[in-house]
Order: sequence, then C-alpha cells, then structure tokens
Amino acid sequence: MKRSQPAIEVYNLHRFFGTTRAVDDVSFQVHPGEVFGFIGPNGAGKTTTMRILATLDQPSFGNAYIAGFSVVEEPEQARLRLGFMPDYFNTYPYVNVWEYLDFFARAYGLRGARRHQAVQEVMEFTGLISLAEKPTRALSKGMKQRLCLARALIHDPDVLILDEPAAGLDPRARVELRQMIRHLANQGKAVLISSHILTELGEICDSVGIIEQGRLKAAGPLELIRQRINQYSVLQLEVLSDPQQALGLLQQHELVGEVHLRNQHVLWAQFRGDKVQRAQLLSYLVNQGVKVAEFSAQEGSLEEVFLSLTQGQVQ
Ligand SMILES: Nc1ncnc2c1ncn2[C@@H]1O[C@H](COP(=O)(O)OP(=O)(O)OP(=O)(O)O)[C@@H](O)[C@H]1O
Ligand SMILES: [Mg+2]
Repeated sequence: MKRSQPAIEVYNLHRFFGTTRAVDDVSFQVHPGEVFGFIGPNGAGKTTTMRILATLDQPSFGNAYIAGFSVVEEPEQARLRLGFMPDYFNTYPYVNVWEYLDFFARAYGLRGARRHQAVQEVMEFTGLISLAEKPTRALSKGMKQRLCLARALIHDPDVLILDEPAAGLDPRARVELRQMIRHLANQGKAVLISSHILTELGEICDSVGIIEQGRLKAAGPLELIRQRINQYSVLQLEVLSDPQQALGLLQQHELVGEVHLRNQHVLWAQFRGDKVQRAQLLSYLVNQGVKVAEFSAQEGSLEEVFLSLTQGQVQ
C-alpha cells in the first residue's frame, strides 16, 4: 500500500444521473482490518458508491482512494488492490468452478504454480473444493455467492467491496459468510459490505454508515451508533383517561418524536432522553390529569434507529 492507512477513503463523493442525486456528498474511511457496514433502503446509493470504488463508474465530483490509489486518476492501480462482489452477477454456465476461478486468476496475471495455489486457496477458504468439477450452472444460489467471493479474493486484495453478499442466503450460509468476512478482516483486509439486514450488519461490522437518498445520515464506530441507540427508546403507555389528551400532550413534548395510538388505551411514543427526563415526562403527564396505568420504555434496536434516521423515501 502506498499509504499505511486507511485502506478505503471516500471524499465528498457525488454521482448524478440527470436530476437524481444518487450519491450526494458522501465521505467515509475504512481502515485495514475493519468491516464497515453500508446500510440504506432501496435506491439509497449503496451500489452506485460501491461501483465507483470498484472503478466501474466515475463520480460526478469528489474522489475515492483504494490502498492510497485514486479510483479516478489511477484506476488500474486501485483495481489490483480490490476485490468486488456485485449484487448481481453472471457466471459462465458451461465452465466448472475450477475453470472459472482459473480464468480470473489468469486475468490478474497469476502464472504457473502461483496461479494453481491461488485457485486452490480460495476454493478451500470458501468451501468449494468438493465442487471444483461442477459446472457453474449447477450451483445453488449460496454456492454461486461463494464462487463470487472466491473470485473477488483470487488476487489477495487489500480491500473487499461486497454488495449485499448475504442476500438470498439461508441462515447457516449467512453465519458462514459472517465467519469468512471476519476471518478476512483479521487478515488485515478492509471490508465494505452493504445490506438491508441491519441486525446482521450489527453483528459483523466494526463501523456503519447509514445512507439515504445519496446522503450519509450517520457514520462511525458501531459503539457510537449503539450509544445513539441507547439514547433512543420507545415508550409504551396505557392510559385510563382520554387517550387523545395524552396523545396531544406527548406530541407537544420536545423530547418526543412519533406518537401512535396502538389501541383504545395504549400509546407508543419515540423518546429521546435519559431516565431522569423520562421520569419528568411521567410526572408532567400525571400533573396534566392523564391517568397513567402503565409506563414502560424499551430500548431501540438497530432497526428502529435506522428507521428513525431515514424517512423511508425512495428516489
Ligand atoms: N445507471 C443509472 N442510471 C440512472 N439512474 C441510476 C443508475 N444507477 C442508479 N441510478 C439511481 O441512483 C439511485 C441509487 O441507486 P443504487 O443502485 O445506488 O441504490 P442502492 O442503495 O444500491 O439500492 P438497493 O438497496 O435497491 O440495491 C436510484 O435512484 C437509482 O434509480
Ligand atoms: Mg444496490
């Protein structure tokens, strides 16, 4: 690597398609050995960002670096140091697993014993050894995903860019994929991984970036995002007095976000505040004449934080 750190650098990245701002001023960094989760709803700009990092597309503005090499000015250098697993891929149906990987090893300039060794190693790592002779058209979805990961690893890149690698996998295959990714990070590779499956990213990632409509809503170490999660709770209230009165009071409160009437007596409210503020809210409601039969708080999950940060808008 040209520079020691970080392995992926994204600076003020923009990509416009006509009037669509697919990527709108995105900046983040991923260090060697780190797994960075890219979370966002459909159309958020994840694939567009990843394609630019994989040198398959160019930004409208901004720049990005793979192992210190600009994807705009030195794409050949960057390409040698990255492995990309696209969200949609074709395998050549009439070649077998070994031939497929051997082809890509040749394309990366690996020759002789080194090529043989590289193909063997990635097949071992991804559990494809027993399928070496199988034509790729006969592989299941999960096996194709493994093959695609093996292909991305064939030249032992510093950086891995995986666009929804867990999509369509069964629970066991997801666990295995997670283990493989963790192992690769432990080897010192920087991994950028996108997904809609937030709980899963929570288990595997060191850092996450939440993107919507091309903009990063939050990015940072998972610990910091978790702290944010802990500050956020969902209150459940059961009231015996007029629920509309409680609804109105809650909606006007500065620490309360969305409020829903779950049924005749039960309300749910998003609350941003600590325990003391929660106690103050309860006394306030009681003082206003609300008859509170039950008042409980549940901490938000990663899923809920995500939904609270994004508006669910599709562009
Ligand atoms: N080649 C293109 N031409 C025009 N618009 C495009 C093109 N590629 C992407 N877009 C638009 O850019 C936006 C971001 O798309 P992108 O595929 O990056 O989203 P994503 O986060 O990967 O979504 P998903 O979760 O559905 O895969 C969308 O509005 C999409 O329609
Ligand atoms: Mg995508």
